[in-house]
Amino acid sequence: MSFYVTTPIYYVNAAPHLGHAYTTIAADVMARHHRQLGEDVFFLTGTDEHGEPVALAAEALGVTPRELADKNAERFKALAPLLDATNDFFIRTSDPEHGRAVQEVLTRVKDNGFVELGMYEGWYCPRCADFKSEGEIVDGNRCPIHLIELDWEQEENYFFKLSALQERLERHYAEHPDFVAPGSRYNEALSFIRGGLQDVSLTRGKLTWGVPVPWDEGHVFYVWFDALLNYYTALTYARPGEDLTEEFWPASYHLIGKDILKFHAVFWPALLMAAGLPLPEHLYVHGYLLMDGHKMSKSLGNVLDPFEIIDKYGSDALRFYLLRDVSFGQDGSVSAADFEKRYESELANDFGNLASRTIKMVLRYRDGAVPQVELDPVLAPDFDGLCERVGDLMGRAELTPALEEIWQRVRRLNRYVEENAPWKLAKEEGREADLDRVLASLTEGLRTVTVLLHAYIPQRAEVLLDALGAPDLTIANARFGAAVPTQVQDLDPLFPKQPAAEVA
Ligand code: ME8
Ligand code: MG
Repeated sequence: MSFYVTTPIYYVNAAPHLGHAYTTIAADVMARHHRQLGEDVFFLTGTDEHGEPVALAAEALGVTPRELADKNAERFKALAPLLDATNDFFIRTSDPEHGRAVQEVLTRVKDNGFVELGMYEGWYCPRCADFKSEGEIVDGNRCPIHLIELDWEQEENYFFKLSALQERLERHYAEHPDFVAPGSRYNEALSFIRGGLQDVSLTRGKLTWGVPVPWDEGHVFYVWFDALLNYYTALTYARPGEDLTEEFWPASYHLIGKDILKFHAVFWPALLMAAGLPLPEHLYVHGYLLMDGHKMSKSLGNVLDPFEIIDKYGSDALRFYLLRDVSFGQDGSVSAADFEKRYESELANDFGNLASRTIKMVLRYRDGAVPQVELDPVLAPDFDGLCERVGDLMGRAELTPALEEIWQRVRRLNRYVEENAPWKLAKEEGREADLDRVLASLTEGLRTVTVLLHAYIPQRAEVLLDALGAPDLTIANARFGAAVPTQVQDLDPLFPKQPAAEVA
């Protein structure tokens, strides 16, 4: 089985922020989960370097677009390992191999009869690199996302004949009800398509910072078509001498924010149809991270700095917080105060303490040797079907409900400790067998949840599984009773408590 997951490629007009970290983390959770399933995984992220968003930002800074792109691409590239993201490749759309592949595919689109010359006239947001219809703009002529005044653009362009693909798109949606998730986004995309599709600009005559149009040197490709194609072109050159498209195309999951739904759910499948290429299996559309009620964005300056959080708490804490506190697929507010609360109450207390207590008790009462006895029939049923349920949810990118399933078991294990009070059993005569059963069940329960948590909190999960002497991450092993540890080792606190005042 192959699994190919992508993030959007991020604009290099500014440094990365938490919104970018968010999608990369989510994609990494999926990639790790599928590796745990034993699948062949390819995980792609990268940067979108052409077009006005970058050209204008460079101009404002008095540098060339390439200088700005080089500088910021490095920062995005550096963010991935800081997040503990295991991307297999990092594409930059300024890679010459990408440019050549874009020219090749889009020439095919033209040869297939989906390109014609026309005149564009209308509102254009240079920050979105998007042509806005009258229905999309706010306050007269402002961008609904960036709130800036829009330019009225008029130019001769080559157009992509999107309108010619309306019926085929509708059919694709009808035949693939899981093409776009969550369902509300599927409906939104489909109603956009049903509302009638206009042809869209495929090239820009006014810009030079882009991939040149091979059949007309005065034009570069409109940045969105150049950018969308990254998902495909990366596979043609990520491994020199190999064509990974055979194994990994079409993509299994494109993860995107809802800001770029139209491009991915309408333009992208249409472009692939026009090029004669297979369509991706799924798009999963997540919501906005909000601060003070507005979309967090570079241009608005209302951001929570992922670098600071990681520096202080580690990447696991950030990964956990974002997928736990904001329901993946919906908008959600983030704040330093909420982050601290989750960290304290769930990572440090629920999970960290469970791990420390469990290991300490096995060390104290049994010298670290986990009793090899029958597991508690009271606890076992609470784990029945967990592995399958979590796998099913994660397989559908339902990352928050999957985490909630796991967390219910973390809480169950904490209750189990309280219910059985091993420290009392240790003092009572004739209760050795009971204590054996409780310690074995607790250790095995802890191992089970930790294997499932690995995709979310890989660093701490690995440390803990090592301390349990059970490093195997295979998902089939995430069943209660599948691999009871034999010997545990002492462990430092997984999520040490932090002095609260410093972060507020
Ligand atoms: O749109 N909340 O790049 P971009 C959640 N280059 N996610 C957020 C976010 C927020 N506040 N802010 C950003 C582009 N994101 C194009 C994409 S793809 C072929 C080209 C995440 O730098 C989210 O994934 O504006 C969103 O879709 C993406 O960053 C937009 O990044
Ligand atoms: Mg944006």
